[in-house]
Amino acid sequence: AFGDRVEILATNFASYIPSGPALMVLADLGVSSPQLDVAERGFSFRLDGPLDMRMNTAGSTETAADLIDRLEEKELADLIYANGEERLSRRIARRIKSDLAVQGAYDGTASLAYAVAGCYPPKARRGRIHPATRTFQALRIAVNNELGVLDRLLQQAPDWLEPGGLFGVISFHSLEDRRVKTAFLRDERLERITRKPLVATEQEQDANPRSRSAKWRLARRLDAG
Ligand SMILES: C[S@@+](CC[C@H](N)C(=O)[O-])C[C@H]1O[C@@H](n2cnc3c(N)ncnc32)[C@H](O)[C@@H]1O
Repeated sequence: AFGDRVEILATNFASYIPSGPALMVLADLGVSSPQLDVAERGFSFRLDGPLDMRMNTAGSTETAADLIDRLEEKELADLIYANGEERLSRRIARRIKSDLAVQGAYDGTASLAYAVAGCYPPKARRGRIHPATRTFQALRIAVNNELGVLDRLLQQAPDWLEPGGLFGVISFHSLEDRRVKTAFLRDERLERITRKPLVATEQEQDANPRSRSAKWRLARRLDAG
C-alpha cells in the first residue's frame, strides 16, 4: 500500500545519512522480539542457541562468546556491572572465567544462563525476572556497542529534522532512557514535548509483557537561528 514511498535500509543508525530533511525520526531501540525468539541469534537465555548476540550477523564484530573469552575477569565484571547494573557482577565474572578455563567455551546460551543463575542465592533464583537477564543485557549491549551508537544517534538525529520536526525515542532500560532524557534536556536544537516519559498502560503490559520496560520520549526541532 505504501509502494515506492517506502525504502527499507538495513544499516546501523549510527552510520545512516538521510537523503533530505525529515518530518520525524522515530528510534525503537534494543533487540526486537523476533530476534529474541530465534534461538540461533543467541540473545535468549530461555532458548538454547550459540553465544552470538550480534544484531547484524553480516557485520564483522565479535560475538558474545568471543567477548567473554577475550576480557579479563575484572574487565568482564566491570562490563556486567556497568551495562547490566548487576550487583553480583564480580561473582558472575569469576564463575564465567573459571568455567572457560576449566571446561572451555560454553555450549550455548543455556549453559551460560545456568552458570549465571548458580551465582544467585537459591531464594533469589525464583524472582520475577530470570537471574541471567542483567548479564545477558550487559553482554548484548557490549557486543553491539548499543550505548555508543545511541549517543551518536542522539547527536546526529536533530540535524536530520526540518524545523518543527519530531524526534521520538522508545527505550527499554534505564541506561538508555537516562541518555535520551539528558540529551533532550540539554540539546539546544530541541524542545522537549514530554517531560516525563510515556509508558504502556497496564492492559498493554498484560497483553505484551515486553512493553513493561518501554519508555517513550518526544522532542521537537527548533527553528534554526
Ligand atoms: C525494538 S526492535 C524494533 C522492532 C520494530 N519496530 C517492529 O515493530 O518490529 C529494535 C530493532 O532495531 C535494531 N537495532 C538495534 N540497534 C540498532 C542500530 N544501532 N542501528 C540499526 N538498527 C538497530 C534491532 O536489531 C531490532 O531489529
